Amino acid sequence: MGRVIAPDNVRVAGLLLAWGESNRRDLPWRHTRDPWAVLVSEVMLQQTQVDRVTPRWEAFLRRWPTPQVCAASRPADIISFWVGLGYNRRALNLHRCATAITAEHAGSLPSSLEALLALPGVGPYTARAVLAFAYEDDVGVVDTNVGRILARLHGRRLRPKEAQQCADELVPAGEGWAWNQTMFDFAVAICTKRSPGCGACPLRTECGWAGVGDDPATNSAGTSGRQSTFAGSDRQARGKLIAALGQGPISATEVPEAMELVGETDRAHQLLEGLLSDGMVVATANTVHLPT
Ligand code: ADE
Repeated sequence: MGRVIAPDNVRVAGLLLAWGESNRRDLPWRHTRDPWAVLVSEVMLQQTQVDRVTPRWEAFLRRWPTPQVCAASRPADIISFWVGLGYNRRALNLHRCATAITAEHAGSLPSSLEALLALPGVGPYTARAVLAFAYEDDVGVVDTNVGRILARLHGRRLRPKEAQQCADELVPAGEGWAWNQTMFDFAVAICTKRSPGCGACPLRTECGWAGVGDDPATNSAGTSGRQSTFAGSDRQARGKLIAALGQGPISATEVPEAMELVGETDRAHQLLEGLLSDGMVVATANTVHLPT
């Protein structure tokens, strides 16, 4: 049985920060506090693994070092660049973000939660990640990994508001940057989704679960459910079309083939409609292309 009282935040913070001192990874985006570079890294890291992000983050910033440079590019260039990272809508959102930062914030990322949340495609996770990692604010950054740690520490499922509140309360004063980076690494090294290393965990005496009984992280706020299969999915078909369009425009009749949905033209056209209404793809006369 897990404890029913809240964890001792000060003790947890001390133990985990000490663990982080010797275990925090040296990742390239941890060497910068430039808000644009941080934003790009966190957008990439939300749905793509660290190893795949590293070279692409560096390449992105060489090409689009500031929001102004990005805003001056065609969305098509950013979307084509993104192919391989997956979830291509993130590329269009970054371009929209760069445009809003240039037009409404004189080219500098805002530093308030409210203004960050108002940017296109920026949700609670990304906004707080920019606050913590660029501005070193003491806010809790909750992604699926952190959501899992919080539920286990508390020994129960958390509602979304509770998870954010618990995350904020845990941040040791003045340590927002190190704390949140440490949480990500701890989630990957010890408090993993499956077979967590509770025996070697620096928080085992403070944990409301400690690996005994049902995992409270199951279905708790912010934690991920089962990953849906990629092969044969709509996401895969859309990704194939975007990759094809990265080579140049195609005619509307070629769309099912580009999506590898030749026997499923209705489905292909439905997916195309979705991409058109999101602005990911543009149709003119009889051709389909990326937005310019
Ligand atoms: N996942 C999301 N943000 C991250 C970061 N800053 N470092 C490592 N993994 C992450």
